[in-house]
Amino acid sequence: MAMTTILAISGSLRRQSTNTALLRAAGQLLPAGASLILHGLADIPMYDDDVRQQGYPAPVEALRRAVAAADAVLIATPEYNRSFSGVLKNALDWVSRPPAAPLAGKAVGVVGVSPGALGTGVAHYQLKHVLTAMGAFVVPGAEVMVGHSAQKFDTEGRLTDEATQKFLAAHLERLIDLARRLR
Ligand SMILES: Cc1cc2nc3c(=O)[nH]c(=O)nc-3n(C[C@H](O)[C@H](O)[C@H](O)COP(=O)(O)O)c2cc1C
Repeated sequence: MAMTTILAISGSLRRQSTNTALLRAAGQLLPAGASLILHGLADIPMYDDDVRQQGYPAPVEALRRAVAAADAVLIATPEYNRSFSGVLKNALDWVSRPPAAPLAGKAVGVVGVSPGALGTGVAHYQLKHVLTAMGAFVVPGAEVMVGHSAQKFDTEGRLTDEATQKFLAAHLERLIDLARRLR
């Protein structure tokens, strides 16, 4: 069977981001036949339609091409003020514009980490709403909302909590299954 490629995007830019750490952990939990590449958002400028009409800036074009080339996308979102981050919304807005909207028809998994108990639950649903509006197919079923992050990662940012590893691995299986059905 052909390799299933997953593009992983974190909504947090900080070096010690727990959301980025969750994506790194996902890369270690993949089943055979799948690969995962992290794509950073640090160079994505603020959305400006005047700029877009003159041509996508290089970092935006690179993101759009990476999304288009991947079989699936895995997004880890932090929760900022009971929503997902502006960094992520800005990137999604760039990706949603013509001539092609590369997330349309794509399998997308949503995961998230927070220090509090709710594990980005509110951000999750707002993000899913936006992804659905963009025509993405969001993985249904059990969700990976990782709360109490201080107890789930070690000081090096490694995901050490076994239950979370299992939830994440199961989510990856479902994301890959959805991507293969949509292929
Ligand atoms: C602007 C801002 C708003 C935040 N609002 C929330 C929130 O509404 N709910 C929550 O659980 N955590 C909130 N937090 C805390 C984040 O969950 C925490 O900083 C988390 O570690 C961010 O993810 P990261 O580790 O991937 O950077 C907020 C943090 C920032 C910077």
